[in-house]
Amino acid sequence: MTDPKKTNTEILQATVTFVQEQLKNAESGHDWWHIQRVWNNTKLILKTEEADAFVCELTALLHDIADSKFHDGDETIGPRMAGEFLESLYVDPIITEHVQKIIANMSFKASLDEVKFHSKELDIVQDADRLDAIGAIGIARAFNYGGFKNREIYNPNISPLITQSKENYKNSTAPTINHFYEKLLLLKDNMNTATAKNIAQQRHHFMGMYLQQFYEEWEGVK
Ligand code: ADP
Ligand code: NI
Repeated sequence: MTDPKKTNTEILQATVTFVQEQLKNAESGHDWWHIQRVWNNTKLILKTEEADAFVCELTALLHDIADSKFHDGDETIGPRMAGEFLESLYVDPIITEHVQKIIANMSFKASLDEVKFHSKELDIVQDADRLDAIGAIGIARAFNYGGFKNREIYNPNISPLITQSKENYKNSTAPTINHFYEKLLLLKDNMNTATAKNIAQQRHHFMGMYLQQFYEEWEGVK
């Protein structure tokens, strides 16, 4: 009988193939390219933060394989699918369980609930995911999502709701510019690691410049 045990590199390679297949028809905010960017952000953060790189990279790859938004709000489906996949590769159950716990607890929506689990690896992958929601990419993703939901880009008569419950956030139909104030501009101060805080500064500054130009064009003053 051959030994089913794979090296970490082989496991990561098999995970890339699995995730690419799973996300073949995903909407573009959570497609393979989002995963690749989060994976790259994770590796960037790991250059200056101490953590289990294998757990971080596996989680970066698997964190969006099944979004509850597209599965009738079922928030257990992502961790469950990740777990089943890793078990099929005979990954150490301690690692699999850690990956599942991070996925269950890392989303912005989950962070609006009482947070139940912490680890350095969660901090890093959550930062990597949040970095992909700000800056030039963040702006593109927000308008893409707003378009998918057929929302107005901006409406000066509808103010942003800075603090809101998880239910309100999920059911919001507000214009996309409001999302900057409800989430994107708050992310810089919510980064867990010093490394990500640093990277976030410039991306945050760029969004500020973007909004300033947006309003000037809206008013026809520039
Ligand atoms: P998470 O997976 O962290 O819970 P979401 O799935 O809510 O985050 O968001 C995925 C992407 O879609 C992010 O780039 C986010 O900024 C964007 N997005 C989410 N909600 C809105 C919204 N109401 N308007 C515009 N963009 C949004
Ligand atoms: Ni993500």
